[in-house]
Amino acid sequence: EGRLIPFKEFRLPFALGHGDRLLPPEPILELDRYEALGGLVFLRRVLKNLLAPEAILEAVEEAGLLGRGGAAFPAHIKMRAVARGEPPRYLVVNADESEPGNFKDRYLLEHHPFLVLEGMLLAALAVGASQVFLYVRDEFEAAILGLEKAIHQLEEAGLLPVPTQVFTSGGLYICGEETALLESMEGKRAEPRLKPPFPVEKGLWGRPTLVQNVETLANLPLILREGPGTWRAKEPKLFSITGDVAKPGLYELPLGTSLEDALRKAEGVPEGLKAVLLSGAAGVFTRDFAFPLRYKGRLPLGAGAIVAFGKEVDLWEVLLGLAEFFREESCGKCFPCPLGTAVQVEMVRRRERNRDLVHHLGQTLKGSLCGLGQSAYWAYQSLLEVEGAA
Ligand code: NAI
Ligand code: SF4
Repeated sequence: EGRLIPFKEFRLPFALGHGDRLLPPEPILELDRYEALGGLVFLRRVLKNLLAPEAILEAVEEAGLLGRGGAAFPAHIKMRAVARGEPPRYLVVNADESEPGNFKDRYLLEHHPFLVLEGMLLAALAVGASQVFLYVRDEFEAAILGLEKAIHQLEEAGLLPVPTQVFTSGGLYICGEETALLESMEGKRAEPRLKPPFPVEKGLWGRPTLVQNVETLANLPLILREGPGTWRAKEPKLFSITGDVAKPGLYELPLGTSLEDALRKAEGVPEGLKAVLLSGAAGVFTRDFAFPLRYKGRLPLGAGAIVAFGKEVDLWEVLLGLAEFFREESCGKCFPCPLGTAVQVEMVRRRERNRDLVHHLGQTLKGSLCGLGQSAYWAYQSLLEVEGAA
């Protein structure tokens, strides 16, 4: 049956752009090589009717897999809801990774396209999808080419049971929001829809649609290979660690690892840091190095970005960059977000520390339609907390 393929065996630790210090592990770009490493076992089993789609759903539920795109919604709830829907049903792989500081999905797509594709096909078969779309950020050119090649290889081998197509994203941050993503696929402006109805009920062209993140799907073959219980005991998560650490890169760590231990893996020294930005632009500054990196904790984990800032960094400058980012990326569909993000830039420019004003700004942004506006002030609020605690 070949060997198990846990992420870390051939990927991690991995330093992006740090050439000779830690060489990137070898990418698996050929189908034969993927299969030799233990891939495709479960896809073949489903295709031979040796594994029922329901068994995939059960394994995902037993593993307790939470969505890895940032929101940590239980994957099996979405999958079951789509599976119950009226056909035709679709699967859309959200590969529009844009959260500053995150590069895990890009890494998976470029280095392990077959792992992602196997997970995607297992999910498609589990929910009875008749068509799969990979919605990939337009800058990920190597990933797009690699995926197209890998899809072709699967098709040639008779291992593509569901028609699969790569769709290049419009290139805006908001395109990663699942409903804006669906709108753009339908040829409309990439603007978020009001939820509910959730895409599991009314998704692409109004049909039940499973929209799932790349890392989430890449875990499906691993859950089946390792067994949901073993997988759950580890709860592996990819963390993109950058900034003032000696070995920036992508690290696979069990959920619950403390922020300090995560930083030390990347050879960062918490004592030498002013703060860490957790979760990216839609995230928070913190000095709580004991914080266990898990979902639904006191601090947001998002998609797993950890950016470390040394003592010499002016965090207000960093915050200004984030504030400008949100103002630029606001799609303008609802009222509070373009207003609040523009006001926020002015407040950050004048280094406004009045907590009441920042609170009011937060109250305005909270009323926004989607997560972009709703989280745009978190970093600001958290910087005041970090400064207050210093
Ligand atoms: P959300 O909490 O609204 O939804 C999460 C997922 O669960 C969605 O697929 C949604 O359709 C589904 N869902 C929620 N309630 C449901 C229900 N009752 N029934 C069926 N399905 C349900 O969060 P959202 O807005 O999709 O994502 C926000 C997150 O995205 C943030 O936490 C942020 O960290 C992350 N993010 C990630 C980025 C990246 O590049 N990976 C970029 C920007 C934000
Ligand atoms: Fe658009 Fe911002 Fe409103 Fe989201 S919160 S719909 S990005 S204007």
